[in-house]
Amino acid sequence: MQDESAEEFPYRTEYKKKSIRSYVIRAGRMTEGQRRAFDTYWGKYGLSLFDGPLNPVEAFGREAPLVLEIGFGMGDSLLAMAQAEPDKNFIGIEVHPPGVGRLINNAGKAGIDNLKIYMADAVDVLNDCIGDGILDRFQLYFPDPWHKKKHHKRRIVQPQFVRLICSKLKTGGVMHMATDWQNYAEHMLEVLQAESLLENTSSNDDYVERPEWRPETKFERRGQRLGHGVWDLVYRRLPGEAPALASSEETVEKPSKPAPEVE
Ligand SMILES: C[S@@+](CC[C@H](N)C(=O)[O-])C[C@H]1O[C@@H](n2cnc3c(N)ncnc32)[C@H](O)[C@@H]1O
Repeated sequence: MQDESAEEFPYRTEYKKKSIRSYVIRAGRMTEGQRRAFDTYWGKYGLSLFDGPLNPVEAFGREAPLVLEIGFGMGDSLLAMAQAEPDKNFIGIEVHPPGVGRLINNAGKAGIDNLKIYMADAVDVLNDCIGDGILDRFQLYFPDPWHKKKHHKRRIVQPQFVRLICSKLKTGGVMHMATDWQNYAEHMLEVLQAESLLENTSSNDDYVERPEWRPETKFERRGQRLGHGVWDLVYRRLPGEAPALASSEETVEKPSKPAPEVE
């Protein structure tokens, strides 16, 4: 349950019904600044899952290389990248409203024009809004590790998910993931190595140093304080068709309630 009532706060996380989700909507309170940011800046930055296929040239008002990041958290690292690479257009997708509020607040104050945001389930956005072969770079940094074995099915990185991202990448486009959980890094490596449409950029066919385009993220710093390592994986999309892999997951309809659950 989200803690803002629909009357006071009309901006809702968008998603379709599904049996396995990679997230829970946390009941974290929003600051006054984050709440106000939706009224001030959502019109400029916000995109809706329910508007269907996105035309990036119309959305951004220009043609430019397109970068998509899932799960930007509080958004500081995505904002830093949008500022550092003004020649690229950035799409961020996040289900956590306070993070979205913080990012659009800071982006709006900084006058950023190369950023758009979905406050929605990223898998739904990929399926319904993002055209095939249009992404130059895909970013997934420190996704929820779901470290208990019984929760591993909730990890967002699965063969079907990776194939879906491949279908959205241009040939030669980059798939970049990072995690601070060794077991998740090994899982990512296994899934990515098995995808025939991807080529590992690591000379050892495993991990790479943090590329210059990725700033440190909030969760990365948290992991470092806990003594975790960091594993970056960077792959290149090879030529070829990306037919969907059979999925254990069915998406069926709009939600009847505003949010799935709270932890
Ligand atoms: C552990 S946090 C990492 C945040 C940020 N990337 C960082 O490194 O600081 C993972 C984020 O992914 C978001 N997330 C998980 N599954 C998602 C999904 N299917 N669609 C959109 N966001 C998702 C969560 O809400 C959470 O904010």
